[in-house]
Amino acid sequence: MAQLGVNIDHVATVRQARLTYEPDPVWAAVLAELGGADGITLHLREDRRHIQDRDLRLLRETVTVKLNLELAVAEDVLEIACRVRPDQATLVPERRTEVTTEGGLDLYAAPGKVAQAVQRLQQAGILVSLFLDPDPKQIEAAARLKPDAVELHTGKYATASPGAAQAAELERLRHAAKQVVEHGLILHAGHGLTYRNVQPVARIDRMCELNIGHSIVSRALMVGMQQAVREMKNLIA
Ligand code: PXP
Repeated sequence: MAQLGVNIDHVATVRQARLTYEPDPVWAAVLAELGGADGITLHLREDRRHIQDRDLRLLRETVTVKLNLELAVAEDVLEIACRVRPDQATLVPERRTEVTTEGGLDLYAAPGKVAQAVQRLQQAGILVSLFLDPDPKQIEAAARLKPDAVELHTGKYATASPGAAQAAELERLRHAAKQVVEHGLILHAGHGLTYRNVQPVARIDRMCELNIGHSIVSRALMVGMQQAVREMKNLIA
């Protein structure tokens, strides 16, 4: 059964809307753990629009399940990651104007920088995952960098119209997943997954970890974090 990493960024988004102290993503992480989360995921963006350095520091001290830090290939956050040492780092592309991570890493544009980041994080004792579109060429290029895992971007699947378009995106994910596994890499997936669309992705052979944020935090507003996590865990199971 795939493990569930609960992304708590949007708890911090609500807090930053008022630049106050609540709601606290550290509290949310505790409740997510009590609901059965296998990991807590957070994205320390260069613009610090939601998660702050203080959140990462406190989460490192308090989270007892896997702590997964998403970060861009950028000096300041790489330095923080190597110092704070989350259990896992997921390298993602980042653009200041985007609402959320729009696509996977482009390993053609700057493979050297990603390769250096992978090595640096691994030398600090951190598992490294690369966030990629389900594109065979990107996965081929990623395998050469020897990360520990690949997280497949499920955004296109999540936004495809139900029916043939969604089935085609699921097929692309299955194909990419097989390629990831054949390279001996650990298989993760995430982005845009919801209570309605998660199950076909959770069923993909050898799926180890799903990272889900927006949908869980949205449901948590209505039913509470513990219950929202429990419901997602049940669907994945
Ligand atoms: N995985 C990665 C690499 C992400 O960047 C994000 C968004 O921060 C997610 C998973 C979670 O996406 P969502 O909030 O749509 O569930």
